[in-house]
Amino acid sequence: MATDFTEEGAADAVIESFAGTPDERLRTILDSLVRHLHAAVREVEPSIGEWERAIDFLTATGQKCTDVRQEFILLSDVLGISMLVETINERGAAGATQSTVLGPFHMTRSPERELGANIDLVGESQPCVVIGRVVGTTDGDPLPGATLDVWQANDHGAYDVQEPGKQPDGNGRGLFTADGQGRFWFRTIVPSYYPIPTDGPVGELLAATRRHPYRPAHIHFIVSADGYTPLTTHIFVAGTEYIDSDAVFAVKKSLITEFKEVDDPDLAAQYQVSNPFRLADIQIALSPGAQAELARGDNGPRTP
Ligand code: BEZ
Ligand code: FE
Repeated sequence: MATDFTEEGAADAVIESFAGTPDERLRTILDSLVRHLHAAVREVEPSIGEWERAIDFLTATGQKCTDVRQEFILLSDVLGISMLVETINERGAAGATQSTVLGPFHMTRSPERELGANIDLVGESQPCVVIGRVVGTTDGDPLPGATLDVWQANDHGAYDVQEPGKQPDGNGRGLFTADGQGRFWFRTIVPSYYPIPTDGPVGELLAATRRHPYRPAHIHFIVSADGYTPLTTHIFVAGTEYIDSDAVFAVKKSLITEFKEVDDPDLAAQYQVSNPFRLADIQIALSPGAQAELARGDNGPRTP
């Protein structure tokens, strides 16, 4: 005998319809999703017009996606979901450098560069030197041959891929291999804060909610070593604007790094930069674990 649809019984009826799902994890996810979505709808009691507006928003989000633009991930970013997933997944990595979001600007394999290379291909701004070590969390031993994929915006807050023809390809990017003691160093400039892409539905959402689109200044890293879990992270420039209100909630205090003003002609000569310059000294700790089959960011480009 048919049972009537009721507000109270709707969630249970839908959950019951998935009871035969052979994949247990899929069933768990669907159960939870249905329970929470139904609870939200019952709490909000949307009008039909509001429900249509929500469908239009999601449709526009999908339509904004191309093979170089991922508006759904951007939506996940501004809702704090990307960072929640990151943070849940780093629980087991005691002592490791904290992770943060990949972001949409990785998109291209960074050019391989020698240690010490300058990733600032323009050369019009104060130089900055980034030095550091990659170590394992178990005994703090250095990880020789660790690779560091680095990318950053310039001092106007733009990535090379946002300004083709204006910035040289590969500006602000480098793939480095740590030396026999796990050490690395490269030359660059201090990046600026910048807005996330706002020319799509996510931008409309930010505007409608009076949220700003800015991210504090940072340099991205994906660090990998054999036998260790690859780490996707940033270092944030201490003192940068928006450190307390990152549009994508990606700041972790442990990642805030001093970019010291250095006035030392001998040290500048040693690093082959003009004096004065900025200097960031970092340590990156990886936890032992399986190498991901696909390094993060290798699953296709996602630029604005
Ligand atoms: C980024 O840091 O490149 C980024 C992260 C999330 C959304 C947009 C940009
Ligand atoms: Fe970024």
